[in-house]
Amino acid sequence: MNMVPSVILALDVEDKDRARSILQATGDKLEWVKIGLQTYLRDGPDFVREVADSGKNVFLDLKLYDIPNTMEKALESLADLPIGMLTLHASAGPEALRRCAQFAEKSMPDVLLLAVTVLTSMDQETLSSIGVDSSVDKQVNRLASLASGSGIGGIVCSPLELSKLRPLLPQSVKLVTPGIRPSGSQTGDQKRIMTPAEARQAGADYLVIGRPILAHEKPAVALDGIQNELNQLTNG
Ligand code: C5P
Repeated sequence: MNMVPSVILALDVEDKDRARSILQATGDKLEWVKIGLQTYLRDGPDFVREVADSGKNVFLDLKLYDIPNTMEKALESLADLPIGMLTLHASAGPEALRRCAQFAEKSMPDVLLLAVTVLTSMDQETLSSIGVDSSVDKQVNRLASLASGSGIGGIVCSPLELSKLRPLLPQSVKLVTPGIRPSGSQTGDQKRIMTPAEARQAGADYLVIGRPILAHEKPAVALDGIQNELNQLTNG
């Protein structure tokens, strides 16, 4: 049976006060928090430090994409931040990925770099419109293999990609999956979803979950429910 994946709360909220109250409400049960572009651009590195000081591991979801030198320099600028994961786009190419992986290994040894493959908002038509002729599936596999072969330690993927990527990549590569909806919760704009238990069975190492926890009247209860569902597979 696969290991129990850790839950990462996507802290997509309107302001810092709301973020603080959610963090307080979830307490020690929550180990990981994802800070995305919206929050990072608004609240900056000080907020990342504040979240880390409150005892959480921070996944900084900046999806970096630029020329190799600029990406490496961007990592250099982030090297002192207390983060545990950072995203970049696999389509930045092999040199950018290699240089980032090498820099991180040397100067950010506690940071897991994660590659984003094809954004889940893109379908076949969108890919064609930017001149990519492969199918979405093929492009996801190609970019995930490229990232892993370039030394990137993890991949962000949709739940439905888990079973295709797990056998393709070394076991050490971590798979981080948004698009998770506990049974009975609202799907919102997520279309290709799985429950936490299904994602565990498909080989996810981390589950990124936002609205099912954020929108719950009692976020700690929602988190408990998810963690119970994940643990039940072990006990049952
Ligand atoms: O609220 P919800 O659980 O849908 O949040 C999922 C989080 O994961 C959001 O921060 C969203 O931006 C992010 N994400 C996603 N799908 C991807 C990549 C990231 O939903 N393919």
